[in-house]
Amino acid sequence: MTGVDELAERFGTPLYVYDLDRVAEARDRLFAALPGGFDLFYAVKANPHPEVAGALRDGSGPACRAEISSTGELDAALAAGYAAGECLYTGPGKTDTELAVAIARGVRLFSAESPTDLRRIGAVAERHGAVAECLLRINCTSAGAATGIRMMGRPSQFGLDLESLPALMPELRATRGARLVGAHFFTMSNAGDESDLLAEFERVVELAAGLAVDPGLPLELLDLGGGFAAPYAVPGAPVRYPKLRAELERLLDLHLPRWRTGTPRLACESGRYLVAGCGTLLCGVVNVKRGRGQTYVIVDAGINAIGGLSGLGRLLPMAVCLDGVGATEQASLVGPLCTPGDLLGRDVQVPVLAAGDLVRIPNVGAYGITASLLGFLSRPAPAEVTVRNGAVVSVSRLEPRRVPLSKGAPS
Ligand SMILES: Cc1ncc(COP(=O)(O)O)c(C=O)c1O
Repeated sequence: MTGVDELAERFGTPLYVYDLDRVAEARDRLFAALPGGFDLFYAVKANPHPEVAGALRDGSGPACRAEISSTGELDAALAAGYAAGECLYTGPGKTDTELAVAIARGVRLFSAESPTDLRRIGAVAERHGAVAECLLRINCTSAGAATGIRMMGRPSQFGLDLESLPALMPELRATRGARLVGAHFFTMSNAGDESDLLAEFERVVELAAGLAVDPGLPLELLDLGGGFAAPYAVPGAPVRYPKLRAELERLLDLHLPRWRTGTPRLACESGRYLVAGCGTLLCGVVNVKRGRGQTYVIVDAGINAIGGLSGLGRLLPMAVCLDGVGATEQASLVGPLCTPGDLLGRDVQVPVLAAGDLVRIPNVGAYGITASLLGFLSRPAPAEVTVRNGAVVSVSRLEPRRVPLSKGAPS
């Protein structure tokens, strides 16, 4: 029995186990792969667990900042120890209410995704007697990199379309309560490989340098975005970026020659790279149904517990592999929910399993519970255990609950 299996004995299944040492290792590895002095924003959406998010901030080396997109993520970041001033608030649908909470708590750095968004940020800041520092998120054409999820380079709800900037710039610069401080690009997640990532960074660095000249976008901070990849729900070692640092330095020297003295400051963002590898989901096998030439392994966690892939519109994951040894067979791995969509893996190779066995799904520290259909079929969320140096740090469970609201005006 391995260490994590003992945790399943102690705390039951389904159970997420997060190894905080691996979170810190991933942070150090990513900082080392980037040029010195870069800021690194942790995308809290990947895993808002306070100790997981906090492990990216604590330690002797450079610390992450937080990229947040809601009041809940702001709460999570603050609970994890981030200061409001270390947060970058992003998202295409920020509301007045959310912005007011963020400004009141001290968030000052925002990514504005449209002129309306910028005006709204500025107006709320002004009402609080503050000035919001705003990056313009830019929807540019892409370098054509292979990626799991492309967010830009085509029509989308994200960012200001590059071609609209020259005409908009006077109005954007004059927005009350908001000071333009730079550009934000987040064009993709989960880049295919290092050369894809580099091609995309080259494209955005060149673009940002051009925008600073014409139409005169202020460029104190340039957030290049991300796309750092990680294996998800399959065994696999962390991705390495051996050329990234030198190549980024070369292209920054070329296009933004004063970057080494902080003009502009530079930043990247990452969720999955930083936390995917820390997490394992332990599931119990409830039943194995064999018949009509098919085997179904029914486990106690389905898309209500590990819905990241379904959340991304891929109800059928390519390969949820099981970290097992010995004889294997082909089976569909399904969850306990009353829908044929509760499918973790169709026709995957699994160890020959029986009711009562334990299944380990590796590399699921990112986009686990909070990217799942948590409320569907009203099952409890899996418990979450954090571990450091092999010792349990905490055990907790997320609990959605119905809260009575006033029948009057919305709160
Ligand atoms: C603005 C922004 N930053 C960062 C991320 C994190 O992406 P990843 O987990 O692939 O690093 C996302 C993901 O959607 C995002 O929208």
